Amino acid sequence: MAVTAGAKKLDARALRADFPIFEQLIHGKPLAYLDSANSSQKPRQVIDAMTEFYETSYANVHRAVHVLGERATAGLEGAREKVRAFLNAPDVNEVIFVRNATEALNLVAYSWADHNLGPGDAVVVTELDHHSNFVPWQYMARRNGAEFVMLPLDEHDEVDLSGLDAIARDYTVKLVAANLVSNSLGTIADLAPLTRWAHEQGAIFVCDAAQAAPHTQVDVQALDCDFLAISGHKMCGPSGIGVLWGRGELLRAMEPFLLGGHMIHSVTFEKTTWGALPHKFEAGTSPIAEAFGLGVAIDYLETVGLDAIEAHEHELVAYALGRLGEVPGIALYGPPAERRAGIVSFNLEGIHPHDVAQILDQHGVAIRAGHHCCQPLMRHLGVPATNRASFYLYTVPEEIDQLADGLYAVHKVFA
Ligand SMILES: Cc1ncc(COP(=O)(O)O)c(C=O)c1O
Repeated sequence: MAVTAGAKKLDARALRADFPIFEQLIHGKPLAYLDSANSSQKPRQVIDAMTEFYETSYANVHRAVHVLGERATAGLEGAREKVRAFLNAPDVNEVIFVRNATEALNLVAYSWADHNLGPGDAVVVTELDHHSNFVPWQYMARRNGAEFVMLPLDEHDEVDLSGLDAIARDYTVKLVAANLVSNSLGTIADLAPLTRWAHEQGAIFVCDAAQAAPHTQVDVQALDCDFLAISGHKMCGPSGIGVLWGRGELLRAMEPFLLGGHMIHSVTFEKTTWGALPHKFEAGTSPIAEAFGLGVAIDYLETVGLDAIEAHEHELVAYALGRLGEVPGIALYGPPAERRAGIVSFNLEGIHPHDVAQILDQHGVAIRAGHHCCQPLMRHLGVPATNRASFYLYTVPEEIDQLADGLYAVHKVFA
């Protein structure tokens, strides 16, 4: 694949040429796209490959014997193998295509948690988690009479594990869920102690890697998790495609999530039996071109190099913390640069984040303002919302300068 990049250290300026979105001005200014944690931009390689797929190889999959059906099936299944290798999963049939990370987590909630929780059991999440890795567990715990437990954050905004013994004493812990990278603070978690503890309790561990997979090497075997969720749109792939990886023995024992075509083995009036993995969890027509596009995005990320991407983001975060730290009245949230992916949340004293984001937009700077689907975290921080600038492999320091200059302009508006 032709990627405009050097092998070791990433050349973001050169990579930018792969992303057509940057070929425009926004409000007459160069685009500083600092909202990649929300959704990443797409390289021409992915856009062109998907267009070509639609133009030459599109048909429905698994059910046609004609040439196009075979090409489309090869495209989908080729992508599944790329995801397997990307996550270092042991078996390609453990890779389930879904719409996004949210659907992946809901699949586990409905097909595992809803059948395995009861009174006396506990589901454990953290205060740092995205609503997608919080609400499904809260709902399933309450619906099944189980306890919903949230590990709080300490004064350094790190997950406080000091209460684990008490939780284990009081409940049978069945499921522990946590993110690998926080979408609000960018914190890269060391999940090993929590995963170990979960397994000591006989619980399963669900890893939300929606923010991790775009930025760092994710290895389901090294993580020793039981389920892991990612979203294609955050990692240079199209929207409408996500992945649930799960341990084969768990997936095989689970009830299906969605019912209908494609997920069955046989159907009679009396009885329906389920198909083998992964089809049991892929009811209906698959997101065919989207899965294919995700495979191309994985090729792209691997050609650039996940290590190079991670190092680039650490550099950008260090630069951003320095530049933004000079802005009067700014509060910066989260850990030091070396402990986080390319995400910086902040507030300007006395100015609502939505006002900040709106004024920045006039300067060509796209950031996100809001609670970032992390209302429990916002409560911990004592704010209703934050501004969030997030970086990716195509982010250059000039965009951070544009952000910092924009913040001085915000101050002028409110002076
Ligand atoms: C950490 C984290 N988990 C889960 C999600 C949900 O991803 P999606 O909206 O693609 O389902 C997001 C999206 O922002 C996220 O940042």
